[in-house]
Amino acid sequence: MRKQIAAANWKMNLTLGQAEKLLDEVLAIDWTPKAHQEVVFAVPAPYLYPALTKLRATGRTQVHISSQNAYSEKSGAYTGETSAEMLQSIGVTHVILGHSERREYFGETDHVLAKKLDIALAHGLTPIFCCGEPLTVREAGTQNAFVAKQIEHSLFHLDDAQLRKVVIAYEPIWAIGTGKTATSAQAQEMHAFLRSVLAKKYGATADHISILYGGSVKAANAAEIFACPDVDGGLVGGASLIAKEFEAIIRALK
Ligand code: G3P
Repeated sequence: MRKQIAAANWKMNLTLGQAEKLLDEVLAIDWTPKAHQEVVFAVPAPYLYPALTKLRATGRTQVHISSQNAYSEKSGAYTGETSAEMLQSIGVTHVILGHSERREYFGETDHVLAKKLDIALAHGLTPIFCCGEPLTVREAGTQNAFVAKQIEHSLFHLDDAQLRKVVIAYEPIWAIGTGKTATSAQAQEMHAFLRSVLAKKYGATADHISILYGGSVKAANAAEIFACPDVDGGLVGGASLIAKEFEAIIRALK
């Protein structure tokens, strides 16, 4: 069974007090993960260290703290940026890369993301690499070509061992924050296609790559989406800010 992951992307939300309260509530749930299940919290950068401290105190091993970004250079005169090395040095284990909001608002290209993947992997981080099409592409029916290009341009330089360390998140942009969740059929179709794209280059290794769905995942729809054979959990925005919602999403993992 591939790793099944419930990942929370808190984006730019919550004060420290709210973040600590939310983390306390979710870490306190009476849930024993199966060997293949994991939970990841991608928290705003200022809260990474307090979140790590809080997590360490619980002794939970299949729960991880993720950054929402990392810079593409090792270190230097990049005011305001955070390096993969810094994240590794404080114990962060995962990093979201290529989120559609980073691509849109901060101009992150497939090429820059390839560099970010390299430096994240070089520092032992697990990248959660995001891909997904805008509504115009979905309406034109060219989503497969669009997403395949994102994968090929940013991931295909990796060798087999490197790819095995990557988690992919398919997030149709038209479903992010809109309440218009992809149907489970749409999710399964794209996830199976993504796996076939990976298999073209990496063969059977593609079967080992966890592919999460993101885009208006809620307690009410998580079980149906996660039940799809090529969906390996979710990358959750809004619903992850509500402890009871995210608890139900965690419990929906197969
Ligand atoms: O990274 C996950 C996020 O983009 C999905 O947001 O609010 O639609 O769950 P949301």
